[in-house]
Amino acid sequence: MKKKTIDAFNDASIKVPFIIPEITRNDKNVVSNALNSRLLTDGPKLNKFESIFAKFTGAKFAVGVSNGTAALHLSLKALGIGKGSEVIIPDLTFVATASSVLLTGATPVLVDVDEDLNISIPSIKKSITARTKAIIPVHFAGKSCKIRQISSIAKKNHIAIVEDCAHAIGSKTNNKHVGTFGQSGCFSFYPTKNFTTIEGGMVITNSKNIADFIRSARNHGISKTLTSRFAKGRPWDYDVENPGYNYRLDEIRASLGINQMKRIKKMNSLRKKVANYYTEKLGNINGIIVPDKSINAEHVHHLYVIRITEKYSITRDTLFNKLLKSGIRTSVHYKPLHMFTTFKKMAKVSGSLSNSKNAYSQILSLPIYPSISKKQQDLVIHNIEKYEH
Ligand SMILES: Cc1ncc(COP(=O)(O)O)c(C=O)c1O
Repeated sequence: MKKKTIDAFNDASIKVPFIIPEITRNDKNVVSNALNSRLLTDGPKLNKFESIFAKFTGAKFAVGVSNGTAALHLSLKALGIGKGSEVIIPDLTFVATASSVLLTGATPVLVDVDEDLNISIPSIKKSITARTKAIIPVHFAGKSCKIRQISSIAKKNHIAIVEDCAHAIGSKTNNKHVGTFGQSGCFSFYPTKNFTTIEGGMVITNSKNIADFIRSARNHGISKTLTSRFAKGRPWDYDVENPGYNYRLDEIRASLGINQMKRIKKMNSLRKKVANYYTEKLGNINGIIVPDKSINAEHVHHLYVIRITEKYSITRDTLFNKLLKSGIRTSVHYKPLHMFTTFKKMAKVSGSLSNSKNAYSQILSLPIYPSISKKQQDLVIHNIEKYEH
């Protein structure tokens, strides 16, 4: 029998995985119990998960969907965005931010980021045209964008905001949860995120119209829930007011979400501890820029991204390889969108994207998760200290 490894890809040499999802015995029991239910989708666990999430974020409505991309796609559809529209997004984000725009038929407009890797305000201003219908700011790594400034630009120009909060479960600005500043906020519960339902997502909004649209559109455009259809009368008596999708979040995932939500504050505070320890130990290394030096706001540390500058003895790519050889997985978030074949063809580039290009050659995401041990962190730190000039 093959020896069990701690690495997701079964590499026995890995001592520090890039991510370990937090699945407890209790999570497994909850999932197992949910499997005993007769109603496996479109049921009460989803309603409960949604109301807990709405309360947690302070939004009026929360609507669960199958993943974060669906959350973005349906938010844009709810705002009537489609062919002929332009949607401003940062160049440095996961591909889903752009794909969701393409799925509507609209054009993503790629703009530059700031030093902190969040969308740049001057770049947004420069890229607004008569066709601009929305901005999707991404709260990168779990730190809020300059969302108040973005809101005022959007208001002035009659543009909607769909916040991409995939990294930012629990992240706040001025005590207000991200995702509640724009027309909607979109979350992902993919296994790498601050909590997981394996696959899963959520839209939060204060607009009843948007919430109603998404509730129906996630379920083929059907006007009633499964429970209400069977509660009385003829279950087939429903209407389809708009063409919809199958973007449902099932009861198993919803039950896992409810259970994980009980631990989100604890998990986020453990992440903060991990981030603070990295910052304390790596902050004075010549040539390394740690996030807390260039980022001055509180965040939920979905990612811990350092920058490897020319002052360091080796390049980012060499460091990546050296760390891997020492059993440490790291990654880069992200390869900028303008470099992908699809977006070269289908997106519009605004400006030089110089910060995004420069960041791409320097950034490295270190392992961060609640269960990482001090010993594992020390191994990462030691291997980065080793190459200081
Ligand atoms: C910034 C960003 N936006 C959108 C998504 C899409 O989420 P999902 O993978 O759940 O569709 C992700 C996550 O993977 C993400 O990191």
